[in-house]
Amino acid sequence: MVNYCTILALALGVLSPAFALPSRPHSRPHNASCRYLPTDAGWPTRADWDRLNNTVGGKLMRGEPLAQSCYPSFEDAAKCAQVRDGWGSNSLYYDDPVAVMSPFWLNNSCNPFLSSAGHTRACTLDNVSSYAINITDAATVIAGIEFARQNNIRLSVKNTGHDYLGRSTGKGSLALWTHNLRDVSVNMNYTSSKYSGPAVKIGAGIAGGFSQNGGYGQLSSLYGLAADNTLKFEVVTTDLRHLIASPSTNADLYWALSGGGSGNYAVVLSQTVKAHPDGQIAGATFVFTSTNTTSFWSAIQAWYRLSPRFNLIPGLSASWIFSSGLFRLTAATLPGGTASDMDAILRDFYQAAQELDMAFVARKTIVKPSFVELYDTLVPPSRADSSFPSNNTIGSRLVPARVVQDNLTALLDVYRRILEDDTVPGMIAVGGTSNNVSHANVGVEPDSNAVLPAWRDALLSSSAAVSFAVNTSIQDLQFIQAKVNTWQDWVKALTPGSGSYINEATYDNPDWKLDYYGNNYERLLRVKEKYDGNFTLWQHTSVGADMYWQEDAEGRLCRV
Ligand SMILES: *[C@@H]1O[C@H](CO)[C@@H](O)[C@H](O)[C@H]1NC(C)=O
Ligand SMILES: *[C@@H]1O[C@H](CO)[C@@H](O)[C@H](O)[C@H]1NC(C)=O
Ligand SMILES: *[C@@H]1O[C@H](CO)[C@@H](O)[C@H](O)[C@H]1NC(C)=O
Ligand SMILES: *[C@@H]1O[C@H](CO)[C@@H](O)[C@H](O)[C@H]1NC(C)=O
Ligand SMILES: *[C@@H]1O[C@H](CO)[C@@H](O)[C@H](O)[C@H]1NC(C)=O
Ligand SMILES: *[C@@H]1O[C@H](CO)[C@@H](O)[C@H](O)[C@H]1NC(C)=O
Ligand SMILES: *[C@@H]1O[C@H](CO)[C@@H](O)[C@H](O)[C@H]1NC(C)=O
Ligand SMILES: *[C@@H]1O[C@H](CO)[C@@H](O)[C@H](O)[C@H]1NC(C)=O
Ligand SMILES: *[C@@H]1O[C@H](CO)[C@@H](O)[C@H](O)[C@H]1NC(C)=O
Ligand SMILES: *[C@@H]1O[C@H](CO)[C@@H](O)[C@H](O)[C@H]1NC(C)=O
Ligand SMILES: *[C@@H]1O[C@H](CO)[C@@H](O)[C@H](O)[C@H]1NC(C)=O
Ligand SMILES: *[C@@H]1O[C@H](CO)[C@@H](O)[C@H](O)[C@H]1NC(C)=O
Repeated sequence: MVNYCTILALALGVLSPAFALPSRPHSRPHNASCRYLPTDAGWPTRADWDRLNNTVGGKLMRGEPLAQSCYPSFEDAAKCAQVRDGWGSNSLYYDDPVAVMSPFWLNNSCNPFLSSAGHTRACTLDNVSSYAINITDAATVIAGIEFARQNNIRLSVKNTGHDYLGRSTGKGSLALWTHNLRDVSVNMNYTSSKYSGPAVKIGAGIAGGFSQNGGYGQLSSLYGLAADNTLKFEVVTTDLRHLIASPSTNADLYWALSGGGSGNYAVVLSQTVKAHPDGQIAGATFVFTSTNTTSFWSAIQAWYRLSPRFNLIPGLSASWIFSSGLFRLTAATLPGGTASDMDAILRDFYQAAQELDMAFVARKTIVKPSFVELYDTLVPPSRADSSFPSNNTIGSRLVPARVVQDNLTALLDVYRRILEDDTVPGMIAVGGTSNNVSHANVGVEPDSNAVLPAWRDALLSSSAAVSFAVNTSIQDLQFIQAKVNTWQDWVKALTPGSGSYINEATYDNPDWKLDYYGNNYERLLRVKEKYDGNFTLWQHTSVGADMYWQEDAEGRLCRV
């Protein structure tokens, strides 16, 4: 149930899809209204694909359902058992050129737990890409974009990480699989007009979509969001230019790529980010439980009542999760702090919880000489590979301090209604992550990037998620998706004018423009039109998504 990665939000990301208008006429006339699917007469021939494969040095791969070994025709008991065992781990999906984690986005097709006789689910590619290029450089990206454009097929960008919005896939698409771009180089003396100091250049396969979507973590109260730390991107645009985007070169594109949504403005090959000195850090973690509902909720109230104070402590970040009767502080972290600093911060809460007879199962204050050592203690590497999006659906909302200060009763009432919903086929949990990323606190100039402005006033990001069984039916997955939207709306009603962290939000929220981009939307749209004027890159809830394309009932991308 406990969702460490969401809470710690380190691994993130995934890029997105892309498209292309038919450009120069090929051998066949193109369908002017829709991208081709493999079942269409206009779909490229085997010879076309072979030519592409030659152009990209044999790096073209055909998409295959991950669990086809569990289904007739491809049945292989040993392989199937291996896929079932790995179904909950990230690496299974990272290392596959087309498979995505979320069974919702897979349309639950080829689910290895629904393969036995009696189930009606088939094994097809369904929602995911038909082909992928194992991207090695700008030239392979350019070849992929050109091919998609000439052959009128959909394009996707699949990277590393998870994406609840399904931005890393597309039915019948050619995927640019950037996961293997993993170069890392350190420059202790990066120099630019805005920043001089240590920096690291990382390949897109390591960076994922984390920074492009904002990106929070346990050091955000000290260094800001991931997007606040970008210095430069190396990209290929859909008009086939290999560009640098930085505060001084293509500055508008740099601005948009820093927090304005992943995979929508250009295909990122690498990014350069600030590097910060590591050092001593204090951490705390605990679990408390109670069977007395009244006092359990009083303890929750005590925690939230103290939280505005936490966010005024420089550098303090906290993340927690709770369900009925159990609350877990996944981590509170204080860079540069000592054990007694941390204990002093939590003292009032411990006292309140003890007065309410909460039973602490595990309560630890830890000090480590570096962040990684602390992180590995809080989230053992063995657990870090657990792929929550493969059995988890989430929605969230940024909550300003004034709502917790003035309307805590209403907020807790919403949480209680969420957790007490017994119609949901799965386990419900409410989460909170508190980071102070105000401009003043993290030393970022307003307007320097496209991060959703609501982040700057947020006390916490409030989430509600459902974890479900591996064999959950597609109908139940759709029901869960609808529930998560409803819960997101309940918190929205208490937080007018705020927004949601796009990486932990829903793809079908009708207010996505305002909620995920705020008043940056129009400016982002101008960047989109300038760098991807044919809307070759397309995905749900990305800037411009409603202007050019929409998916029909079959999942085919057609002109609006
Ligand atoms: C858009 O597509 C048209 C027709 O294929 C092409 O001529 C034009 O260069 C493209 N524009 C951009 C910005 O890619
Ligand atoms: C174009 O696609 C639409 C939607 O699938 C289809 O109805 C139409 O027949 C197609 N036209 C051609 C020329 O293939
Ligand atoms: C592309 O070429 C490589 C090397 O010849 C081959 O192994 C691979 O199967 C080909 N891909 C496709 C989709 O045919
Ligand atoms: C993708 O390309 C990289 C770099 O050439 C190679 O190391 C890797 O094995 C390839 N992956 C697959 C699945 O073919
Ligand atoms: C960085 O550059 C400065 C000025 O050019 C120089 O004094 C310093 O030694 C360099 N530092 C490193 C780590 O190379
Ligand atoms: C639950 O705790 C409240 C105080 O928080 C107390 O008044 C009540 O008696 C307790 N209920 C039970 C069943 O122990
Ligand atoms: C608190 O929330 C309730 C219920 O949504 C709302 O009616 C009320 O105006 C809010 N109060 C404040 C002070 O924001
Ligand atoms: C964040 O910290 C600043 C001080 O740097 C403070 O003014 C602001 O109120 C804090 N924000 C929240 C949401 O607590
Ligand atoms: C979801 O997956 C996690 C990790 O793989 C597992 O621990 C948990 O039990 C699963 N949840 C449900 C409801 O099956
Ligand atoms: C899912 O698995 C559970 C336990 O293995 C089983 O009881 C249940 O019937 C299965 N549900 C479906 C829809 O197959
Ligand atoms: C999703 O699966 C259902 C069968 O459960 C199928 O009817 C539908 O066409 C699929 N949707 C897409 C977009 O492939
Ligand atoms: C993928 O699956 C989801 C949910 O099953 C469906 O709503 C969506 O339309 C599908 N998308 C594509 C591209 O097939």
